[in-house]
Amino acid sequence: MHEAVDILQTPRLLLRRFRDEPADFEHYAGLYADPDVARHVGGVQSREQAAQTYDERILRYYDANPGLGIWATFEREGGAFVGLHLLNHIRGDTLLQVGYSLRRAAWGRGYATEMARAVMRYGFRTLGLPIVHAIVNLDNGASMKVLHKLGMRREGERAFAAYGPRPLAWFECLPNEFRDGDGDSD
Ligand SMILES: CC(C)(COP(=O)(O)OP(=O)(O)OC[C@H]1O[C@@H](n2cnc3c(N)ncnc32)[C@H](O)[C@@H]1OP(=O)(O)O)[C@@H](O)C(=O)NCCC(=O)NCCS
Repeated sequence: MHEAVDILQTPRLLLRRFRDEPADFEHYAGLYADPDVARHVGGVQSREQAAQTYDERILRYYDANPGLGIWATFEREGGAFVGLHLLNHIRGDTLLQVGYSLRRAAWGRGYATEMARAVMRYGFRTLGLPIVHAIVNLDNGASMKVLHKLGMRREGERAFAAYGPRPLAWFECLPNEFRDGDGDSD
């Protein structure tokens, strides 16, 4: 991530870069092999597709875009892989988005919100971003709830070339709209 910050921590979670190592790739590929997880993020990926995305969209993206990326999220206690959080460019666009995808076993514990809040705090305070966006499938109620809890504002619907013709719910957040939680990072 940013030169001075390559790890984010919250009370329960730790975020770090994915590494060019088999164990990290297996974590990533496992997420996209699960239909329940993948259906809201472009669909199930074969191992070959996951390997290509891992190389292009994760490992090489870090070098090209210091301070931004798709990062791996772990429980601090015990170190279990939880999923991913991201602050990166919407594919094929110049706009920056926040996002998250968690292993099915990690849903329903507030993890998506907890680390997304730390990522947005990092984006606004450390990187000085003037705005953060998010895009969500229209039927993804859980993700929209997370975005609302972060203070994001729904601005309508739009389609993106890279994600096909279907319109997606479009969210924005300015620094003064961000609902920063108290005491959930250290
Ligand atoms: C979306 C996702 C990240 C949420 O993770 P999570 O850790 O369970 O989220 P949180 O616990 O922080 O918050 C979820 C909130 O949505 C609520 N919720 C859950 N299912 C819901 C639904 N179908 N409709 C509306 N709200 C819902 C929860 O009650 C919770 O709100 P609360 O804190 O007020 O109780 C997770 O379900 C996931 O990884 N889904 C698959 C991938 C994905 O959709 N990624 C986002 C792409 S935009």
